[in-house]
Amino acid sequence: MPLYYKINTYGCQMNVHESEKLAGLLEGMGYICCPEGEHADVIVFNTCCIRDTAERRALGNIGVTKAEKKRDPNVIIAVVGCMPQQDGVSQAIREKYPYVDIVLGTRNISSLPEEIGKVLASREAKRKKSDKRYRGADTRLPENYLEIDEATPTLRTSFPNAWVNIIYGCNNFCSYCIVPYVRGRELSRSMDKVLDEVKRCVDDGYKEITLLGQNVNSYGNDLSDGTNFAKLLHEIDKIEGKFRVRFMTSHPKDLTEAVMDEMAASDKICSNLHLPIQSGSDKVLRDMNRRYDRARYLSLIEGLRCRMPDIGITTDIMVGFPTETEEDFLDTMDIVERVRFSNAFTFIYSPRKGTPAAKMEQIPYAVKQERIGRLIKAQNRITKELSDAYTGGVYEVLAEDVAPKYEGMICGRTESGRLVTFGGDPSDIGKFFDVRITASRSASLFGNKEEK
Ligand code: 5AD
Ligand code: SF4
Repeated sequence: MPLYYKINTYGCQMNVHESEKLAGLLEGMGYICCPEGEHADVIVFNTCCIRDTAERRALGNIGVTKAEKKRDPNVIIAVVGCMPQQDGVSQAIREKYPYVDIVLGTRNISSLPEEIGKVLASREAKRKKSDKRYRGADTRLPENYLEIDEATPTLRTSFPNAWVNIIYGCNNFCSYCIVPYVRGRELSRSMDKVLDEVKRCVDDGYKEITLLGQNVNSYGNDLSDGTNFAKLLHEIDKIEGKFRVRFMTSHPKDLTEAVMDEMAASDKICSNLHLPIQSGSDKVLRDMNRRYDRARYLSLIEGLRCRMPDIGITTDIMVGFPTETEEDFLDTMDIVERVRFSNAFTFIYSPRKGTPAAKMEQIPYAVKQERIGRLIKAQNRITKELSDAYTGGVYEVLAEDVAPKYEGMICGRTESGRLVTFGGDPSDIGKFFDVRITASRSASLFGNKEEK
């Protein structure tokens, strides 16, 4: 009988990639990815806690596994990632969900096999009536954690895209954000390790590499060998082969002219940037501890667009930060009209325990909801207008997947990051095509392959 594992992933790309590492570890132990309709022997929840909604979704699903454990007491349940890393939360999970066997933080996921081994050994001991019940791990990120685990295998699941971590953690402490508390201080991987991994991915046929970090622009700050993000991009660009490079996330305070120059000069690094603005109000940006203002943000946009006129710029915007007045919100609306982002991820501010903003007086939820409604409406109009401008043109698209809703169609993205659905079959995945855009619908484009 094969032993199956199932990983439930919540949150950002960093978590998606960490789940690929969890899968690599589990497969290394002999577990197999659980087919649809089968029961898993190991269930892992790779959690997120950036907003209340993410946390509640994970907790709801962890609660459901109680029935699974009743059906099969041998199942092993592990809760890992950001959520247990918060103060008091791993203890709370243990108390509220006593059937959870393993709780691990963000930087010790590689100990999952060892922890599974201990759970199994303790069950065996219990069966033999000895008194060695293992209560499971409770290993949160140590304060002074200084090492990067380079040994964990990765089971990549998103061909032709490959995620590559370049920096872990965050030093910024934006006043609303829990990430620096749960992911610790910045730790850059060595340039050699990153270049090796990118080369390996390219050799293995991956066509798009996405460099990951909470703040990729801080890459190298902690290495004290003169390495920085611009230099890393320069070296990656020299790797031979036809492939694309994207990266996320960039912090506007750290985006340098040198990085913009590398992007513009390279034909591998896509003209595409995710640059979270959060708010268009100088006062709110100050209260958020973002350390840039509107003027700086707008000058970055200008710097990017004069180097790369076709660049696709996306952003994150938060409404309802405690000190945001209607006037501040209108500043956000104003900057959205000025910048004209190709797309924006919009969020309602959600207080996170232990962060400075959670201690401030909060805005009523109804006000936040009304504001996000106005924001989404404006951004949808802009997204649609920018999509319409693609029609009639021919763009290079990397075929990335079968189109979820359209039979006989595949989808991929332009260099600028627009999603395009076009006629093709699964054997096209991983190939580049010139696609003529014939129609647009909000953020998506539709088209046909051009005959070569
Ligand atoms: N509430 C709502 N959104 C948040 N984000 C980060 N922290 C919070 C919070 N407490 C958003 C930011 C960030 C994105 C990943 O999540 O916009 O850029
Ligand atoms: Fe959070 Fe700010 Fe760090 Fe991004 S830069 S992870 S928003 S603290």
